Amino acid sequence: MRNKLVAGNWKMHGNLKENGALLEALISGMPKSGNNTRYAVCAPFPYLASVQAALRNTCINWGAQNISQYDKGAYTGEVSADMLIDFGCTYVIVGHSERRMLFGESSQVVAEKYAAAQRAELIPILCVGETLEQRDSDITEQVIDEQLKAVITLTGVESLKKAVIAYEPVWAIGTGKTATPQQAQDIHQFIRKGIASQNQEVAECLSILYGGSVKANNAAELFEMPDIDGGLIGGASLIAEDFVAICSAIKS
Ligand code: PGA
Repeated sequence: MRNKLVAGNWKMHGNLKENGALLEALISGMPKSGNNTRYAVCAPFPYLASVQAALRNTCINWGAQNISQYDKGAYTGEVSADMLIDFGCTYVIVGHSERRMLFGESSQVVAEKYAAAQRAELIPILCVGETLEQRDSDITEQVIDEQLKAVITLTGVESLKKAVIAYEPVWAIGTGKTATPQQAQDIHQFIRKGIASQNQEVAECLSILYGGSVKANNAAELFEMPDIDGGLIGGASLIAEDFVAICSAIKS
């Protein structure tokens, strides 16, 4: 059976006080995580220590939103995989569209970050997705293929056994325009079939999350789709009540 995961992506939001209140509300409100259900929050680097202190011994895991592709060295401003392990991270988001588009991360760099995460036994949450222009030009599948191929070429298809994929159409992120459950399912199925053509077993156990304007009122219908194994949640993960409701919409 595939693992289900709902992960919050706090992006560059929050402060010590707000995070403390949010985490406290999450700890008390979160549904019990079943055998194959996981919850996580991905916080900005400076808050990882306090997130670790708050969430240790709870059913909520945590992670970061970015990572260096290098293991150590003269890379001013970068944060390595081992540093994230030091703060108890389980997950790290790699290749979020905001990193690709605003910070110029190519699919090759994203693949190197994914590999760096796995070297340290962090679970990468690999984001893929098309822009509106690409969807309108009917090249969604090519775009996603290219993004996945960079990773598979570098680390092999078997590496996906220890990773999570998040399909996040760029046009749905932070816009309030969610993909319909069927639109999302179509791409999730496309991704799973593509992986299955290389390795059936990997495809069957791969968790593929949907991200892009997932809210408390649309999570359940998305999570019901057969190839959607949870969500990567931006805006709604900052509101405890909403994030708890989204986590509760997952059926294990
Ligand atoms: P959103 O962000 O839920 O605010 O659309 C999702 C994401 O960027 O991961």
